[in-house]
Amino acid sequence: MAHIVIPYGTSEGQTARIAEFIADVLRAHGHDVEPVDLKHSDHLLAGKYDAAIVGASIHMGKHEEYVRDFVLKNREALEGIPSALFSVSLAAHGDMENAEQYVAQFEEETGWHPARVALFSGALLYTQYGFLKRMVMKKIAQDKGGLDTDTSRDYIYTEWDGVRRFAEDFAAGLEPKAVQSNL
Ligand SMILES: Cc1cc2nc3c(=O)[nH]c(=O)nc-3n(C[C@H](O)[C@H](O)[C@H](O)COP(=O)(O)O)c2cc1C
Repeated sequence: MAHIVIPYGTSEGQTARIAEFIADVLRAHGHDVEPVDLKHSDHLLAGKYDAAIVGASIHMGKHEEYVRDFVLKNREALEGIPSALFSVSLAAHGDMENAEQYVAQFEEETGWHPARVALFSGALLYTQYGFLKRMVMKKIAQDKGGLDTDTSRDYIYTEWDGVRRFAEDFAAGLEPKAVQSNL
């Protein structure tokens, strides 16, 4: 059993939901998992965990600054254990080049180059946005195409099967390698 931390940033809650989903998958594999909302915590990793999965979402072309600061502070610790990054955006829903670019920028700013990176589609939560944000997001959805524009409801684009696969692959990477035998 590994002690795994999932530090994440979220503005409207979708990254938190994905972090909790990953935590449930890892727990089903027998691990002890601690999702941590970095907005409410000045968390330090050093020596406390066997593995870490960092999550962050995109707003106006950037991941949360407090997640970037967290990675800058904990880079050495992250490099010393199995670790991964998942990035949540609308670009991941049909504009992968942009979604990859957000991560490349994050890696450049933090100097952290995680071995595993996942790009997950986020959500358009029109009913939860204030008036201005709702109008801005509708305009962006219209301009980009491939996104929904009925502001009377919410849209979750996250593909949970992909999230599950990512979590299971991460868990598989933590398991001791099967002993090769020539017998
Ligand atoms: C004000 C605002 C700005 C956003 N800007 C971007 C953007 O520049 N690129 C993008 O791909 N997604 C953008 N998104 C979509 C978010 O990444 C998506 O809604 C995600 O689910 C948010 O995750 P969170 O709820 O964990 O914060 C934006 C969303 C909002 C509300």
